[in-house]
Amino acid sequence: MNSFVDAAIEQFARDHTEPENDLYSRLREETYRVMERPQMQVGVIEGLFLKMLVRLMDARAVLEIGMFTGYSTLMMADGLPGDGPLITCEINPKAEAIARKYFAESPNGHKIDVRMGPALETIKTLAGPLDLVFIDGDKVNYSNYYEACLPLLKLGGLIVADNVLWSGKVIDPKDEADHAIVAFNRLVQSDDRVENVCLTIRDGMMLAWKRR
Ligand SMILES: C[S@@+](CC[C@H](N)C(=O)[O-])C[C@H]1O[C@@H](n2cnc3c(N)ncnc32)[C@H](O)[C@@H]1O
Repeated sequence: MNSFVDAAIEQFARDHTEPENDLYSRLREETYRVMERPQMQVGVIEGLFLKMLVRLMDARAVLEIGMFTGYSTLMMADGLPGDGPLITCEINPKAEAIARKYFAESPNGHKIDVRMGPALETIKTLAGPLDLVFIDGDKVNYSNYYEACLPLLKLGGLIVADNVLWSGKVIDPKDEADHAIVAFNRLVQSDDRVENVCLTIRDGMMLAWKRR
């Protein structure tokens, strides 16, 4: 993943952001040591931003699509005022094993409900209403996740999608994933059911707020 922000500026922002605690540092270190494509993990600033959103919304019910080793999951669990649920979807058992180890160590890990299996199948089993949905799974299904989740989202709820700038490949899309991300951005932008803002945090985050 290319960074859109100058390295020195990024470091300055990190230096003026709450530091990562020991549990998160160890989770990041193990993910980078053990997993393929560890850069899929959200960064510290994005993780803390997700936690902040959960707090600001006073979110009770959260859905995550794409848990990986659980960094963003734990961040959002830390922000949840109550016991959740924070339902998170994943298909990779190796990632699941790492995530569960750190969830067990965290005082907020009990809020997390891990659902293994294709996220579109899991979403079909959910009743809602959801306060916040974080889409960070396979890119080709972003639009499908959005359409499946929007009816489950309460009015005034928020869908957050990661990687919407896709290392800049949205400007000149080539492969299937590139085109899927472009189509997702276009879908949200043209959707009257939501108000949206595309942020340049890390690899791009789309926020879509469901109109009341
Ligand atoms: C970008 S990573 C998620 C990163 C995570 N949010 C974090 O901060 O560490 C995407 C994850 O989605 C998972 N995934 C891919 N296809 C999926 C599917 N159909 N259903 C559920 N999860 C899926 C992958 O196994 C991968 O772990």
